[in-house]
Amino acid sequence: PYESQISKIMSKMTLEQKVGQMAQFSVDAVLKSKIPGVPDFPVEVDIDKVTHILGDLKAGSLLNTPAGIAQNTATWDKLNNQLQEIAMKANGIPMIFGVDAIHGANYTEGSVLFPQEIAMAATFNRQLVYEGAKVSAYEVRASITPWNFSPVLDMGRNPNWSRIWETYGEDPFLTSELGVACIKGYQGNDPNHVGMYNVAACLKHFMGYGVPVSGQDRTPALIPENELRERHLKPYAATIKAGALSVMVNSAIINGEPVHASHHILTDILKDELKFDGVVVTDWQDINNLYKRDRIASSDKEAIMISINAGVDMAMIPYDENYCKDLVALVKENKVSMSRIDDAVRRILRMKYRLGLFSKPTWKSTDYTNFGSAQSQQLAKSSADEAITLLKNKNYLLPLQKAYRILVTGPNADTKRSLNGGWSRNWQGDKTPEHEKAGATILEALQQKAGKDHVVYEPGVTYNEKGKYYDENSPEIDKAVAAAKGCDVIVACIGENSYCETPGNLTSLEMSKNQQALISELAKTGKPIVLILNEGRPRIFSDIEPLANAVVHTYLPGSYGSLSLADILYGDVNPSGKLPYTYPKYTNLLTTYDYKPSENREVMEGAYNYDANNAVQYPFGFGLSYTSFEYSNLKINKAHFNANDELEFTVTVKNTGKIAGKEAVLLFVSDDVASLTPDNKRLRAFEKVSLLAGETKTITLKVPASELAFVGLDNKWRLEAGSFTVRCGNQKLSINADETKVWESYLK
Ligand code: IFM
Repeated sequence: PYESQISKIMSKMTLEQKVGQMAQFSVDAVLKSKIPGVPDFPVEVDIDKVTHILGDLKAGSLLNTPAGIAQNTATWDKLNNQLQEIAMKANGIPMIFGVDAIHGANYTEGSVLFPQEIAMAATFNRQLVYEGAKVSAYEVRASITPWNFSPVLDMGRNPNWSRIWETYGEDPFLTSELGVACIKGYQGNDPNHVGMYNVAACLKHFMGYGVPVSGQDRTPALIPENELRERHLKPYAATIKAGALSVMVNSAIINGEPVHASHHILTDILKDELKFDGVVVTDWQDINNLYKRDRIASSDKEAIMISINAGVDMAMIPYDENYCKDLVALVKENKVSMSRIDDAVRRILRMKYRLGLFSKPTWKSTDYTNFGSAQSQQLAKSSADEAITLLKNKNYLLPLQKAYRILVTGPNADTKRSLNGGWSRNWQGDKTPEHEKAGATILEALQQKAGKDHVVYEPGVTYNEKGKYYDENSPEIDKAVAAAKGCDVIVACIGENSYCETPGNLTSLEMSKNQQALISELAKTGKPIVLILNEGRPRIFSDIEPLANAVVHTYLPGSYGSLSLADILYGDVNPSGKLPYTYPKYTNLLTTYDYKPSENREVMEGAYNYDANNAVQYPFGFGLSYTSFEYSNLKINKAHFNANDELEFTVTVKNTGKIAGKEAVLLFVSDDVASLTPDNKRLRAFEKVSLLAGETKTITLKVPASELAFVGLDNKWRLEAGSFTVRCGNQKLSINADETKVWESYLK
């Protein structure tokens, strides 16, 4: 609806103004600072700097989070008012703030911090993801930012990777469904008219970022195009179809080509094939990296040419101000076409129009009276209730009795840092202890729940907050062991400290030696152990797992996750989370649930582990409850189908236990025979249901038959004639595609 207005504005813009729109500088660049690179606190706009960035360079965007630490909403109000006034005077075009509010408006004091994406995925609950994103959007808007660099749609398929906790896990379908729920929560229902309680989403990091071969962040990936399309493109295609307004580019290299230089990925696939009409923004300084790091350009200027020609619309933190000058020169030298510049600027202005910034460039945080409300906090808590995953419960140790005297131990017991993870009040989440007032640590939550006199605390191992992210202080294991002797049960809170991006790289996926030693020594007391795995990726703990009677995986459950954990440990909440990734058992056996048959697994016994294998610690989709569910009557509307059909499955689920519970009903389909070796199985539908004790429900799960297709070596989608096996709970069904269909692109 805005195209003619955009054309009118663009017809009056100079090349310099257009190029300025294509630049996003850090807000730090416009703030007063006594120490170079570190803004003064409280933050204050430096008029000379801002006149330069917004006035001379005519920058169209700023990246929020001054000094990298949370501020209050009043600071945002003031900053935005001052900056917009200057931007409007310089160009008549509002400047746009962008920020990483990936689990709430974490850069603003008092905002609600939700469970991180990996935990939200464990809920298998679209509605919770939608509601959480809606609250986050509201609080981000209240913090005067209309553009959120979220959600992460990368495939969390390599547990070594330091950003797996920012993803919805290893499955493309789960990621697509939750991604769509998330962007609807962020943007509202009409992407052309994003309201004052909503923000533009930014899908990241397009695409193939989550599977570096080495496991280290931003290192190369090798992904054949059919795999890229079938797994990595899928969530982006689904969310773009649902109206996502922007995309951030993958920082790394795929098959030797940096994605920031890939015309094929950014233009052929994203803009042409998916018909994406939003903004493509780089990751931090990544144009510069084509020269300084990736060596596919011999100068910064050449790097700009390559990436703008590949399809980049906006440079996040260009190496320096020369970006604008160089880009203007490249146009004058005919190395970047004017039509490419116009395409980029049109997309940026379109997003600003869609966000209503032209009519309302400033607004007031004080209008957002629900900011940090008790209701929003409750939603974060309910999300954690459904995320936390019970992985083991030998002899029904859980729920605990309130009369027990418990030892609470481990480095994660008395800190909010590991509950929230990275992007919490600051980038690495390492300022959380001082800055996160809300919620409780696990220790505090357990004290509240069981009463202080039933709780003994001895950390045993502590993190060294001043050291590197994983340094731990010399363990005080003996003290914990001595304390355990006087207790009935040990609650050992182990896992990881917070981290984010490359600083979170690991050299071993195993749980730290100190923490393993703590558990081994505690086990010698003979007291039952409840292991709490509070971590952003599945750290291998197979040596100590047999020593635990119960295992509870909290992921990074947010500020209120400790309250959920206490409720679960004492039976006030019945756990219903299921693993959104495969939990590995061995460092050299990192796999996903959709492995190829030649990876041959042995079948493990267990309630719903019909296809689990004992080479992993726990399979994807695994999670226990305090009640039991029985599946029956799996049926389909059409046992024979064609590619255009919609398959409708029904299955009956009964709560056969004594208490109410929630169950994520997962439907998997395996292609029995195909021209490329089929995956073991693929998640094709899921639904979360609540069942009272004794209650029975029949669930309908719809699957478009085309979803059963795979991408062949010719990069075309193929649904091949033949049989498929469907599994849901312990139910099994055979269905048949009657004809083969092949089609070109994701958008059939
Ligand atoms: O949005 C992030 C991205 O995920 C990682 N690098 C920095 C960006 C902006 O903060």
